[in-house]
This record gives sequence, C-alpha cells and structure tokens, in this order.
Amino acid sequence: MKGVILAGGTGSRLHPLTRITNKHLLPIYDRPMVTYAIEALVGAGITQVMVVTGGTHAGEFLRLLGNGHEYGIDRLFYAYQEQPGGIAEALGLAQRFVEDDRVVVILGDNIVERSIRPSVERFLKQARGARILLAQTKEVEHLRHLGVPEFDGDRRIVRIVEKPKNPPSRYGVTGFYFYPAEVFDVIGKLKPSGRGELEITDVNNSFIAKGGIEYDVLEGFWGDAGESIDAYYAVNDFVRQHGANKSDG
Ligand code: DAU
Repeated sequence: MKGVILAGGTGSRLHPLTRITNKHLLPIYDRPMVTYAIEALVGAGITQVMVVTGGTHAGEFLRLLGNGHEYGIDRLFYAYQEQPGGIAEALGLAQRFVEDDRVVVILGDNIVERSIRPSVERFLKQARGARILLAQTKEVEHLRHLGVPEFDGDRRIVRIVEKPKNPPSRYGVTGFYFYPAEVFDVIGKLKPSGRGELEITDVNNSFIAKGGIEYDVLEGFWGDAGESIDAYYAVNDFVRQHGANKSDG
C-alpha cells in the first residue's frame, strides 16, 4: 500500500497567509499542517509516501521533511504540479509511484482526531473498488462547501454531488480516499469541470457507477483547515486541546 499526500493548490481561502508560504506548511498547533497527514499514514503502517505540491514554496517541503526518516517514512517521493489543475490531476502525478499497488490519498489540509488504521485494514480486505471516509455534518451551509453523498434505501451511495446548493444528505466526503491502481485509468478519462479542474468527485462517481465504492463514517473530529480562516483556527483549537490521529481511548 502506498500513501499520497496532496499539498498543492493556491490556498486562496487563506490569503494573505498563503502568499508567503504553502498552506500545508502553516502551523496546526505546534507543527506544520502536512506532518499530520504523514502521521496519519505512518500510524496506519504506510511508509512509502509521495507528497504532491506546487507553486513557489515547493522547496520548503524538502527542507522540512528531508528524506522522511525522522517522521517514520521509509521512502519519501515528491512530485511537482505545475498548475493547480485539480485534486484528481494532482493525484494523477503519482501514477508511476503507485504503479499497480493500492493507494491511500489524503488532502493535506484534512485533519482527524482518530487513527485511520481501521479503515486501511478494511480497505485491505476489500475485494475491489474504492473506499471513502464520510463525516456526519449537520450544518447545511458547511455541506455546501463539500462533496455530499446521496444514499439509496440500503444506505449505498448512489452519487456524490460536489458543493451542492441542496445537500442530498447530512454527510460530507472527507479528504481521505482509498483506491486500487485502476484509479489512474479513471483519471486519464476525466474532463475538466466548470471550474476548469479535474475533480476527485468525478473519480468517485465513476467508481460508484461501476458499483465499487465502500465507505466508513468517521468517529471523532474531522476538520478541513483550508476551508476558511475560521475553520483553520477551529482545527488549531481542537488539535491543541485534544490531539490528532489517536489510536487509543
Ligand atoms: O475537504 C474535503 C473536501 O475536499 C471534499 O468534501 C470535496 O469533495 C473535495 O472536492 C475537496 O474540496 P475543497 O474545495 O476543500 O478542495 P481544495 O480545492 O481546497 O483542495 C483540497 C486539497 O487538495 C488542498 O489541500 C490541496 C490539494 N490540491 C488542490 C488542488 C485544486 C492540490 O494538490 N492540487 C490542486 O490543483
């Protein structure tokens, strides 16, 4: 199993902080944001990792992470995304790293309270298809900023709607995705969305159409620290008080 952390994009919702650095290098409590995604992967036993980044501060990742050994990574790879062409485009850059293995993908601004190890173990036992992590999200306004699943009567996901005006459920799709290597065939066939990006939601809908998506509902806190300056501080406050990626208790 390989791990990919997506840490590109413009971080425009955190301007002007992200004019002087990459969003994923900003602090969450006492260390840079990207180190939480690394901790999530390493804590789940995944030690071959690729960080995909871009922009003018990409070199700082090397300065922070080096060869990754200090963080428990066995082999650390980097890819450079030349334009912020979308989450799925960024993931496409990892194809030759993942090869025919399976991959856990983390959006580098997503932080969770609990270890993702149980989901990784379930994915390893899953015969085919993809897996995603959902978070119960009550506020409709928040759901309008997320991918939101629609369920059938058997609680199977029938589709995911990206940033819906009228959210079809009270669950958000978090930035933790588990894919087989065929994800790269799916990405290769994607067309840019209205906002000119290759969308991860289109990738997930393609797996759904083939009957191949499973999900877990996250327990504990989940936050997207890149969503707004308020979300950034809410994640900071939570992590400061309660920690992240915990496997006990
Ligand atoms: O946080 C969960 C949400 O993340 C999901 O509910 C949505 O379905 C999904 O589309 C995504 O929405 P966002 O609007 O939060 O995505 P954002 O553009 O902020 O990108 C998320 C991360 O992906 C960000 O930390 C950096 C990385 N990224 C993004 C883009 C557009 C890249 O590495 N390259 C890119 O080109």
